Amino acid sequence: MNSVLVASNRGPVSFTVSDDGVLTMKRGGGGLVSGLSGVLKDDGVLWICAALSDGDRGAVRQAPGGRLDQAGYDTGALRMLDIPPATFHRAYNAVANSTLWFVNHLLYDIPNAPLFGTRFQREWESYRDYNGAFALALAEEAGHGARVMVQDYHLTLTPAMLRAERPDLRIAHFSHTPWAPPEYFSLLPDEVAREVLEGILGADHAGFLTERWAGAFMDCCRALLGAEVDLAARTVTHEGRTTHIGVHGLGVDGAALWERAHEPDVESNMAALREQVGDRRLIVRIDRTELSKNIVRGLVAYREFLLAHPEWHGRVVHLAFAYPSRHDLPEYREYTASVQRCAQEIEDEFGTEDWEPLILNVNDDYPRSLAAYRLADVLLVNPIRDGMNLVAKEGPILSPRAALVLSREAGAAAELGAHALLVNPYDVTGTAVALHDALVMPEEERTRRRELLEAAATALPPQKWFAAQLDALA
Ligand code: F6P
Repeated sequence: MNSVLVASNRGPVSFTVSDDGVLTMKRGGGGLVSGLSGVLKDDGVLWICAALSDGDRGAVRQAPGGRLDQAGYDTGALRMLDIPPATFHRAYNAVANSTLWFVNHLLYDIPNAPLFGTRFQREWESYRDYNGAFALALAEEAGHGARVMVQDYHLTLTPAMLRAERPDLRIAHFSHTPWAPPEYFSLLPDEVAREVLEGILGADHAGFLTERWAGAFMDCCRALLGAEVDLAARTVTHEGRTTHIGVHGLGVDGAALWERAHEPDVESNMAALREQVGDRRLIVRIDRTELSKNIVRGLVAYREFLLAHPEWHGRVVHLAFAYPSRHDLPEYREYTASVQRCAQEIEDEFGTEDWEPLILNVNDDYPRSLAAYRLADVLLVNPIRDGMNLVAKEGPILSPRAALVLSREAGAAAELGAHALLVNPYDVTGTAVALHDALVMPEEERTRRRELLEAAATALPPQKWFAAQLDALA
């Protein structure tokens, strides 16, 4: 039996299946996986995740009890849950990514406002089933008194479900996203909002990335559940149970990242990039093609910068990495198309025979991203809203001279804001001014700010971040 268990939708590895049925394993992506991979290697620790694709389902069916042998990936014991594909699709795509993600990132607008009807009720049922499958697996696998760490908006109901089955366990929930203020969170149907909040309050400890998101959660508990909130003690008491609220700002393992970024595949990508852009200055951004990342406004800001500063034409290149994400959702497919359209417009307007002002990379290429970090003069991170944003933390570790232009709406702004150039993500003119300020920043100031950014980014590396949450459950 296990003494520490982690549950998350996405796991540390995923599988693809070729036409002749051969399974190939690769590392899972995203902030949550980067945070947890590598810290869960001890005996007695089990990571439970969902099978996300046909490749994953194939791997689970070949593995005894869904236990996967992920030799070479160094992440400890792993069990993947084979949830029926239709249930998974409704829970992950319709509820988690199209509803809860949209609410917590404030992504709804008038033409795209939520519509909660009978279809949503069915999707919500699936979300319950999917959360229930995790609760069941955790209840089966946990030793008496074990500590269970449930992750993110996919699994908000699991803590309360698990508690009902196994009151002996110590349960934590951690939100890797922002949390919406009550007036926005209450877009959700009343019973859904209530179930989400009560689901998380089934935990003993509910963790958030910043004070701001923790505060918004407590505000929702007070406003929508009538719970008793003690802001000073950071507790929420509801129906006789008290949940402690914690703030744990996930940082980066600087030494491990540095080592990975100095491997030969990164060096060769640096040489190729240098060949491509010459000695021009580089403005770099690295994101999933995600609505909340605000890539289109970032491109428009770059255009405004070029319009305002013709003296930089031919002397600067914007390297924009926009990796594919959630293409099962039409909003994401449309967003990808608008990013590509906007990039093409900039290229058409400013490009010359010997100057490519913008290079858009749309394929997942980790070594090339690491190379771009190392070469960056400016790092642009301008999300509309973000739980933390690890790009803002990785850049200063790897780039010897990059100045950081950072959205004030990213969780990372709470820790890095004093040393970055902060922008309002909707204000593209202000962002263009910040891009210029970052390019012309004197060397001494760059160095000073970069050192402070690096210190803040590495203050709570994943090992310590995870240990702090385990301690909170002790
Ligand atoms: O921010 C929350 C999070 O779970 C991150 O870990 C990750 O960047 C993203 O969402 C992953 O999304 P998905 O698993 O849908 O690709």
